[in-house]
Amino acid sequence: MREAMNRRVVLARRPVGVPTLGDFAVVDAPVPAPDAGQVVVRTRYISVDPYMRGRLWERPWRGDPVGIGEVMIGEGVGEVIASRDARLPAGTAVRGRFGWQTHAAASADALDVIDPSAAPLSTALGILGMPGLTAYYGTRLVGRPRAGETFVVTGAAGAVGSAAGQIAKLDGCRVVGVCGGAAKCAHVVDDLGFDAAVDYRAGQLDEELARACPDGVDVIFENVGGEILEALLRRINLHARIALCGAISQYHTAEPALAPPHSRTLHRCRARMEGFLVNDFADHDAEALAALTRWVADGRLKYREDIVDGIENAPAAFVGLFHGQNVGKQLVRTRAAA
Ligand SMILES: NC(=O)c1ccc[n+]([C@@H]2O[C@H](COP(=O)([O-])OP(=O)(O)OC[C@H]3O[C@@H](n4cnc5c(N)ncnc54)[C@H](OP(=O)(O)O)[C@@H]3O)[C@@H](O)[C@H]2O)c1
Repeated sequence: MREAMNRRVVLARRPVGVPTLGDFAVVDAPVPAPDAGQVVVRTRYISVDPYMRGRLWERPWRGDPVGIGEVMIGEGVGEVIASRDARLPAGTAVRGRFGWQTHAAASADALDVIDPSAAPLSTALGILGMPGLTAYYGTRLVGRPRAGETFVVTGAAGAVGSAAGQIAKLDGCRVVGVCGGAAKCAHVVDDLGFDAAVDYRAGQLDEELARACPDGVDVIFENVGGEILEALLRRINLHARIALCGAISQYHTAEPALAPPHSRTLHRCRARMEGFLVNDFADHDAEALAALTRWVADGRLKYREDIVDGIENAPAAFVGLFHGQNVGKQLVRTRAAA
């Protein structure tokens, strides 16, 4: 019988503009052995996320750049298959920063133990993981919508946006999602319960936003940046709040414009625009996770996972994020190389 190999996806070259498949390469290597205090994990799901684009620049951006020939970074879940730490025996389900590979050696101290009987393992990377927490914090702690207000979320059919809109709905808001294409718009309204959706690709953004937000916009949960943000800012109300979660349309530009052309609007409306990172609120993780878990269990918070099979297809899944190919959380289900 052939020994299992560790299949890994490495960075082959730095992307220019939107990443392409040729920026990555698939290589097989021996499965590592654990050092003292380490475990070896067989990964089951790997997350691909927009922030990873920032780690492909040559300069540091929220962490060191991924080097050419190095395994792509990323969170994953899987089970321990070899252990030199008594706290994590073989068979333990864990989450950690394993990178895009089927097997990883990791320090036991750096891993979170997951209870796979409480929720599907994959949810620890999505609705009950970093994206779910991001949605919770951006909505409850940054945007802080009040019942009856109009809450608009961009990237509305994605992992973070879909959860943020539903949380604002739980808080009694009129929720409008902005996303690409009729199918995604139908999904957020029909499946997730948003009040309205605007297809930014349809070419009538200002008119459609005016129709969907007749009373203006009180809170923007912002994932996209660029022209969509501009169009939304034209509709904000007095004391609007803008929770800047991300700006995916700008991630391929090395030096985006510093001064927003809308500063006069913000001033006139005495609006608050606040950027945040999920880690800023780590002290609240236990309460946020408890709330997300409860809402998922009782059906008030719905989620979708978009799953691609095979670690070798991680680059396609990642590139697809920048073309709107995913609905909900984009994941990669790994298979060991034979
Ligand atoms: N602040 C934090 O700590 C934090 C944590 C996690 C994520 N984020 C940010 O949150 C945002 C959403 O992340 P996610 O993981 O939930 O990804 P996601 O929304 O599931 O996937 C990305 C989506 O972005 C949209 N998109 C891609 N390029 C676009 C463009 N040029 N213009 C408009 N829309 C575009 C696409 O949807 P359409 O088909 O609708 O275009 C795509 O499906 C990202 O900006 C990410 O960086 C921030």
